Amino acid sequence: MENNWKIETQAVQGSYAPKPTEPRIPAICQSTTFKYTSADHVAKLFDLDLADHMYSRISNPTTAALEGKIALMEGGVGALATSSGQAAISGAILNICQAGQHIVSASTLYGGTYSLFANTFPKMGIEVTFIDPEADAAEIKKAFRPETRCLFAETIGNPNLNVLDFAKFSRIAKEQDVPLMIDNTFATPCLCKPLELGADIVVHSTTKYFDGHATSLGGVIVDGGQFNWDNGKFPELIEADPSYHGLKYVEKFSAAAYIVKARVQYLRDLGCCPAPQNSFLIDHGLTTLPLRMERHSSNAQAMAEFLEQHPAVLKVNYPGLKSHTSFPLASKYLPGGCSGVMTFEIEGGQEAGKKFMETCQLVALVVHVADARSGVLHPASTTHRQLTEEQQRSAGVDPGMIRLSIGIEHIDDLIADVEQALAHSQK
Ligand SMILES: Cc1ncc(COP(=O)(O)O)c(C=O)c1O
Repeated sequence: MENNWKIETQAVQGSYAPKPTEPRIPAICQSTTFKYTSADHVAKLFDLDLADHMYSRISNPTTAALEGKIALMEGGVGALATSSGQAAISGAILNICQAGQHIVSASTLYGGTYSLFANTFPKMGIEVTFIDPEADAAEIKKAFRPETRCLFAETIGNPNLNVLDFAKFSRIAKEQDVPLMIDNTFATPCLCKPLELGADIVVHSTTKYFDGHATSLGGVIVDGGQFNWDNGKFPELIEADPSYHGLKYVEKFSAAAYIVKARVQYLRDLGCCPAPQNSFLIDHGLTTLPLRMERHSSNAQAMAEFLEQHPAVLKVNYPGLKSHTSFPLASKYLPGGCSGVMTFEIEGGQEAGKKFMETCQLVALVVHVADARSGVLHPASTTHRQLTEEQQRSAGVDPGMIRLSIGIEHIDDLIADVEQALAHSQK
């Protein structure tokens, strides 16, 4: 039934139905451990014949409520919460890719993901080829190799704000017979549902809009349950897993094979599970996500239009503006709004940018986006600082670019704050 609810209802009441006298909201289960009375019961848990909780590194009731709600909202068969967005992205890929193998990724990525792909994965023997997401399909296909195991991209690139051409990317992934993995952090399922647009796996930094109040780091992997793993490329999902006394994931868990393996192998071994307290707070945040995404988007649209006509602003980058190259894709894939993040270039370069950021009052200088409170940041000297200038440009970061994350305050107050800071920046 809850599968048919609208996302607003799923966000409030999805995946948790308390019995009489049980708490109305999922309680914080701050316990590592669970008690049993029979050895047989415990043996069944270890054989994965029962889905009860065993140990909070693998699963926990508070986290399970969060996972169920996110799977529902994204339309997946299951979800796995992690300690951060970076842990979710690492786990989603390591679950199907090992040394000697390769992934293809859009170059327009969050700086941490770019660095993971450009520096850390190669050290582990996994090579990554970056492609321009706006290149034509024939060009992108040249990046694929026999050992390629997935195609990765962000729905809305951070901070380039290019909107993904889902039709092109899902067609390429299908032709190459690899899963399409999408980081849906900026759009959230309220604005875009990648699994309905041909993606196979969705990842999020739940630290961002899901939490929405800047309280808790977290990540999540969502399995669409549609990809055919039995195509010769993913024996680890088909053949017996010696680390799990011969378990065959697809045979035992069919459509949920990928997400079960991520839990019982990756999370078991690498241990990047969320704290129950954080799962509680993120679940709490989700309750208002649909409302907040509407306000983030309408505020950001108004701010982008204000900036576009301001004489101290050289260029505004927001996919909801007709002037943005992604406007047609945004109209197709993000009809409910383009989320709260935008970038712009200020007259006077880095010096004026610094003055602008330091003079903003309501819009605080923070290393964070997607919070209810508005924030401002200079990506080249912060989130993308560890990249070379060439890597920064390939990720869509110009040296003078300023990133705004528009919150849910009243738009009049936000515009007044930005207006006074722009005036100061030109003195
Ligand atoms: C699009 C995107 N993906 C992933 C991450 C990484 O998430 P976390 O900071 O939760 O590890 C971020 C962080 O800003 C992000 O913006």
